[in-house]
Amino acid sequence: MVVLLLAACNSSASGSRRKLTSAEAHGKRTFDAYCTSCHDAFSTSPRQGPGLKGLFRKQYLPSGLPSNDEHVRRTITMGRKNMPPFDKVLDEDQVDQVIAYLHTL
Ligand code: HEC
Repeated sequence: MVVLLLAACNSSASGSRRKLTSAEAHGKRTFDAYCTSCHDAFSTSPRQGPGLKGLFRKQYLPSGLPSNDEHVRRTITMGRKNMPPFDKVLDEDQVDQVIAYLHTL
């Protein structure tokens, strides 16, 4: 039983290989529409903004802030430096879904 649970944990830790939940899949669609022009989801090399692969797997965001939902949500809604704010573009659910998707990268 314990072995089975560990196996289940391990497979979910490999993130992007599992199937996306419906919220994550919606988030991916939003990301592909609004974010990929500036952010590569599958690499850490920058476009106009930093590559976001493994964003939440690291302790710090590219800016140096701790990587948590709160800081990422603020970046998305308020923008940062050359990143435009998305509070007028995306509703709260869409922001939640994008964050859920970013957790899978
Ligand atoms: C016009 C280009 C552009 C678009 C579109 C854009 N970003 Fe950004 N983004 C940037 C730039 C530039 C930065 C780096 C800001 C800085 O210098 O701290 C950034 C930074 C970030 C960061 C890192 C924040 C940190 O604290 O390091 C995240 C996360 C992020 N963007 C997510 C998104 C998401 C999600 C979207 C789509 C909803 C998006 N961005 C759309 C340009 C963009």
